[in-house]
Amino acid sequence: MPNNMKSNDKPDSCVIVIFGASGDLTKRKLIPSLYHLHLTGQLPEHFAVLGVSRTEMSDDDFRARALEFAKKDEHYSDETWSEFAPMLHYHAGDSTKGADYGPLKERITRVAKDHRVGENRLYYLSMAPQLYEPTIVQLGNNDMVTEGKAWCSINRESRPWQRIVVEKPFGQDPESAAHLNRVLGRVFEEESIYRIDHYLGKDTVQNLLVFRFANAIFEPIWNRNYIDHVQVTAIETVGVEGRGGYYDSPSGGAMRDMIQSHLLQVMGVVAMEPPVSMTADDIRVQKTQVLKAARIPKAGDVQNIAVRGQYGPGQINGKGVPGYREEKGVDPDSQTDTYAAMAVYLDTWRWQGVPFYLRSGKALAKKLTEIVIYFKPTPHTLFRESRKALTPNQIVINVQPNEGIRLRFEGQVPGTKMNIKSVVMDFDYAQQFQAKPAEAYATLLHDAMRGDQSLYKHRDEIEQAWKVVQPVLDYWKENPQDDLPNYAAGTWGPSSSDVMMARDNRHWHNPV
Ligand code: BG6
Repeated sequence: MPNNMKSNDKPDSCVIVIFGASGDLTKRKLIPSLYHLHLTGQLPEHFAVLGVSRTEMSDDDFRARALEFAKKDEHYSDETWSEFAPMLHYHAGDSTKGADYGPLKERITRVAKDHRVGENRLYYLSMAPQLYEPTIVQLGNNDMVTEGKAWCSINRESRPWQRIVVEKPFGQDPESAAHLNRVLGRVFEEESIYRIDHYLGKDTVQNLLVFRFANAIFEPIWNRNYIDHVQVTAIETVGVEGRGGYYDSPSGGAMRDMIQSHLLQVMGVVAMEPPVSMTADDIRVQKTQVLKAARIPKAGDVQNIAVRGQYGPGQINGKGVPGYREEKGVDPDSQTDTYAAMAVYLDTWRWQGVPFYLRSGKALAKKLTEIVIYFKPTPHTLFRESRKALTPNQIVINVQPNEGIRLRFEGQVPGTKMNIKSVVMDFDYAQQFQAKPAEAYATLLHDAMRGDQSLYKHRDEIEQAWKVVQPVLDYWKENPQDDLPNYAAGTWGPSSSDVMMARDNRHWHNPV
């Protein structure tokens, strides 16, 4: 069945044309992920990659750049790499210039012919975001998209196809995101546009759909009657590490870089209504509904529902690290948020009054992505003689590392006295399935080649997510904060974030 999440369709033969191929993402993630698909027999029957960038490079140079990262695959072998590497090619050219398209088209045709691929093309924009628009326009002007441009013209049964994967950042505010969607829409059908969010490709995030909708016991309690609040955390120990120039730009900062994209998506999966089927359309409609229900903060509320932070010098894993403002490419008076937290309220029947607290930051105490569902306390306290106040139940979904799900509940310590203690029921992914989670990019590239958009974002989701965070960004811009930097690298972030939670009589889940 086409366009269906996790169906067993084999990907179609195609050429992946990566624009911005000399960049980091290509060598660190894209090529190693494709190599992994090769190792696991999941590449299409006929397949090739053509990397395109302005930098002059030979095919061999291009292959050599990715090899270092491909070698990190636990199943790497020289033999399989030598089978895979000949599928990689490189072409030097400027995708924003019409004049460069003659030679580029010829090269694509030659590569396709040599690998007996036919005419399917997956264009991948992995370049600086200001180059997206001119590249998309040139793809249209140069007839690189032969499928029609009206909604009725895509017949999934009649190939060939041309699809486009667009990396983040997708816009830097609601207007620029809507503009980019229009630019894409003039050249590609929505069914051919794959807006990537690698968090949706993480196994544990997908498992959340299974957890919620393949089990009968969780859904009845998945609502405001039983759930007190939800926390979504995605924090890292690394700072900006040389990427200061990008991060300190109008596209940077934790609110834009992480919360607008990854965390709101994860929230969407936690909060969505059951879709009527597991097709991309049905799943994405439900996630979009969640984002549409998110209350748009008013300027006067921002101080109560959002917190920004910036790291100063500190210690991470026993090593001294410089403060953000000392990083290369960063303005010494920068107001950029390297930490952001926000409470999101969903105005729906299911979630009325249940806050979703989202937080993300760099140079923090731990690399951790988790979702914590905090349940309400029991309605009546029966165990008064126990020395301990009862802890409400929690479900902790560990997205990374140590992928798994833990249920925390109260248990009686063996003995003659009433003694209650919190205990944990633990499902560990690696232990249970004896397998490591797949690299998100491998899953997502495989899906794009199969024509499955379930784990890609619809244009409405992106535009709506921008609307949710924009009032906070506007308020922050208009009201510079004079206590930045306000947390030391290697800690759990600014104290103002704990104060925000304390105001609501709650606290962050900071696992040691
Ligand atoms: C990217 C952000 O989208 O996600 C980076 O731009 C961040 O700033 C990265 O470091 C985190 O991804 P992961 O998969 O390591 O949690």
